[in-house]
Amino acid sequence: MNTAADTLYLQIAESLAGPIRAGTLARGERIPSVRELARARGVSLATVVQAYRTLEDARLIEARARSGYFVAARPRRLPEPEPSRPPVASLDVDVSALAGEVMRLATTEDHISFGAACPTADLFDEERVRRAVSRATQRHRSTLCQYPLGPGDESLRRAVARHTLRMGCGYEARDIVITNSCLESISLCLRAVTKPGDVVALESPTYFGLLEIVENLHLKALEIPTHPRTGMSVDALQLAFDTQPVKAVLIVPTLSNPLGACMPLPERKRLAQMVAERGIPLIEDVLYNDLVEQEDKRRAVASFDPSGHVMLCGSFSKTIAPGLRLGWVAPGRWQDKLSRMKATTSGGQAVILERALADLLTQPGIEAGYRALRSTIAARVDEARDLIARHFPKGSKVTDPPGGYILWVELPEGVDSMALYRACLAERICIAPGVMFSATDRYRRFVRLGVGGRWDDAQRAGLKRVGALACGLAQAPAAQGSAESPRLATD
Ligand SMILES: Cc1ncc(COP(=O)(O)O)c(C=O)c1O
Repeated sequence: MNTAADTLYLQIAESLAGPIRAGTLARGERIPSVRELARARGVSLATVVQAYRTLEDARLIEARARSGYFVAARPRRLPEPEPSRPPVASLDVDVSALAGEVMRLATTEDHISFGAACPTADLFDEERVRRAVSRATQRHRSTLCQYPLGPGDESLRRAVARHTLRMGCGYEARDIVITNSCLESISLCLRAVTKPGDVVALESPTYFGLLEIVENLHLKALEIPTHPRTGMSVDALQLAFDTQPVKAVLIVPTLSNPLGACMPLPERKRLAQMVAERGIPLIEDVLYNDLVEQEDKRRAVASFDPSGHVMLCGSFSKTIAPGLRLGWVAPGRWQDKLSRMKATTSGGQAVILERALADLLTQPGIEAGYRALRSTIAARVDEARDLIARHFPKGSKVTDPPGGYILWVELPEGVDSMALYRACLAERICIAPGVMFSATDRYRRFVRLGVGGRWDDAQRAGLKRVGALACGLAQAPAAQGSAESPRLATD
């Protein structure tokens, strides 16, 4: 179990990590000595030493013999992709065949995979999860032979309601319905508020899993211009409301997938008011909220919702235990309809697992767990961005998300990401080509790279190889019309 001291060192580490990542503390700058910081913060030397170790692990600071601690060299920077400009018409979606293939290959043992956004088991505290499941089995074994009816175990609904306080929401247990996953929650929300042929507004590019639900429900996707840092344009959405028969909005305001964008707070507030005024349901996916570094970016659009038009969906697949397969939804004014649909779609969940998750969510070390996860991931992402800058072709661009393990890379003119995908597959490397993330054909020059999987030398070599293959394509006569030596992103 984590103590207050455990959390304290992580708090100190995070208070320095933010300014270092933002560039406020510049590369090479000296940071306070252990003694100075301990005195300034009123903590023990051991706490500061532990905080500095965490920052060293995240490759944010480095110790220099007899000189103290300094801000480490940051990865080389590439420009970020431009905001997207999708077409103004709504479109049928057809991504599931390619998405299915990529997901199958991304999880094949003998492939080096950047294709999935799935964290590997080593990122989680497996022992802690095992203990919670075994405690729940001992205490609630009678539930194994009882039908789980209703909206989900009361203790888990209470724990989830409490969890939403972190996002500025004030739900109670009775507002929450437990599901099998965030995707099930989203699917139920869309079924509750749309019928086949209806238009759904979403980010562009967006997570293919959301597009697949839209495709399966025979809905039309209206992609809204999206900025790689600030997310969906609320102005463009307003225009869409004025000109198109939008029946629902589906959005990931914090660490969207694949962009990693985070919508600013004033825009979140405006969005909540806009959908309330128009009476349009907004389905908000908060799956990645606990992976974002700054606390204010965790605040949900739902926290500004005056009238129950926001349907809030989440799960703990990316932060606590993907294998428990439990999600939740706060369906707002569509609670009755959604609850009936849930009951007839998949009934309830295994109560043992619900109790285990409730236990995990209410343990004191949970915040420290999120922090440790964020810092491990941040170190990987920095390293991956550095490799991209060094080994991808000149003209490449990449996002710089404030958390999470997904990078969206724009390749230079002439490089087709489907050709790159195939060239990579021939060498048993899996990437996700950009066309999976849109109903349009706009993202042919983009790839999504997930670095939440295994991370070792083979993976690093794999990423360099993706860059080399992209350089080869950028140089191909058909693409560039010359055979000069390959130029790299940071030449
Ligand atoms: C934005 C987003 N929502 C939902 C999911 C799936 O969540 P779950 O595993 O809980 O269904 C993912 C998975 O990658 C995702 O990126």
